[in-house]
Amino acid sequence: MANLSIDDMAMFCKRKGFVYPSSEIYGGMAGFFDYGPYGAELKNNIKQEWWKFHVQSREDIVGIDGSIISNPKVWVASGHAEHFGDTLVEDLKTHERFRADVLIEETLKIQADGLTAEDMGKLIKENNIKSPKGNALSEPRQFNLMFTTNVGPVQSEESKAYLRAETAQIIFAEFKNVYDTARLKLPFGIAQMGKAFRNEIAPRNFLFRCREFEQMEIEYFIHPKKQNDCQFIDEVINERLLIYSAEMQNKGEKEKEMTVKDALKKGIIKSQWHAYWLAIEHKWFLNLGAKRENFRIRQHKKEELAHYSSDCWDLEYNFPWGWKELQGIADRGDFDLQQHMKHSKKDMSIFDEESKEKVVANVVAEPSLGVDRSFLVFMFDAYDDDKERGNIVLHMHPKLAPIKVAVLPLVNKLEDKAREVYMMLKDEMFTFYDRSGSVGRRYARMDELGTPFCVTIDFDTIEKDQAVTIRERDTTQQVRVKIKELKETLKKLINCEIMFKDIK
Ligand code: GAP
Repeated sequence: MANLSIDDMAMFCKRKGFVYPSSEIYGGMAGFFDYGPYGAELKNNIKQEWWKFHVQSREDIVGIDGSIISNPKVWVASGHAEHFGDTLVEDLKTHERFRADVLIEETLKIQADGLTAEDMGKLIKENNIKSPKGNALSEPRQFNLMFTTNVGPVQSEESKAYLRAETAQIIFAEFKNVYDTARLKLPFGIAQMGKAFRNEIAPRNFLFRCREFEQMEIEYFIHPKKQNDCQFIDEVINERLLIYSAEMQNKGEKEKEMTVKDALKKGIIKSQWHAYWLAIEHKWFLNLGAKRENFRIRQHKKEELAHYSSDCWDLEYNFPWGWKELQGIADRGDFDLQQHMKHSKKDMSIFDEESKEKVVANVVAEPSLGVDRSFLVFMFDAYDDDKERGNIVLHMHPKLAPIKVAVLPLVNKLEDKAREVYMMLKDEMFTFYDRSGSVGRRYARMDELGTPFCVTIDFDTIEKDQAVTIRERDTTQQVRVKIKELKETLKKLINCEIMFKDIK
């Protein structure tokens, strides 16, 4: 991704039908985007892979699909109605509003997220920080990010409701129903993916900070006294992570690469469960083709921690404008369940069979990932401006690639056979049929959309061998395969059960 800026990426995404600014014909709307034909496919594939990996292939996690609007008391109990905000400052001349932490970070090159409004005010005064237009700024003040709406025919305070700002709270509100109906026992997780809405003061960097976005979240519940009883820890114990602890940040040190084993032994990551979730989330990205060198895990400094969290690490990605949060993995303890018990007066404790105790389960880790930020990561890590080929190549993992296979007749005369091949494949894998332009041009078009395999039908297909040529996107190598073996071969290639070089 070397020199690709986020604006270049936004332009590429628009030009190739991945993502458009929403309602552009009316001038657009900051912080809202529409996914085009290939973006919608890629986004669905990311979500599908996440759900398969985190829910369907695990015995200890179940998934739910909650509503976007719920009883506003949910958000009062969670603290969002009161506390969920950013600190903003106003340009005293133009009345434009900005996030105070962002202005401070950009001017002073320090971490300002989590500072109090008072501390930010001091920093702004002491360093004479001005608005981007050079004007004086107001005192910083809190701004709530929750979008509100009214439910029912009357618009009043009583009918006010919120669009959910995270999917997580619905998991907590439904905790008892899910526990009672899914026959769960500790430790277990509840997962959800779906839309979330935040009235961001400064939506920016394309899909990175939007006002409408999607999250994929898990609340992982354990017995409060079993932080170190992670039965899966051996699966990740030798995983290498680039670690940037709060202590390293406070001492001005650089991040260090170490194994999960060493991080636990040195007490850098406090609990086995937290370490497990950090490593497994890191692994999920790498398994889908993201580049190891672009990831690190960074611990929140004390002043950054959210009101509900006693420890939090972010999986960060090295975006073109620096290391930024891709996924938060917080220890939320029993904060949320306690809050909902207090506000709803319903008992949320459960009976732990193993210890024979009634407990309020603890969230030892909340892996909370944005779909749209993941989309950017996979796009950046796949993007390659291949000067030799003269076109962009998206080296997208076959499982994520929007189109899996393109069927290309060499010339129009071969269309009947090519359509036959297309019809044979299309119900099993997303197949694209393309008859227009030179084969070179058609290959280039598919490279730019990340299509891992192109199947070409030529005269030999009909006249000689009932076989076709498969061309691999990444190497441009070609191999001849009998039509009767084509579907199975492609399925295995897409699922990474065989390598292209191994096809005989
Ligand atoms: N339940 C915890 C929670 O929501 P968060 O750090 O506010 O934590 C989790 O959000 C993830 O959601 C982030 O790491 C990011 O990937 C994504 N996210 C948050 N705000 C976003 C925004 N405005 N636009 C796009 N993605 C966002």
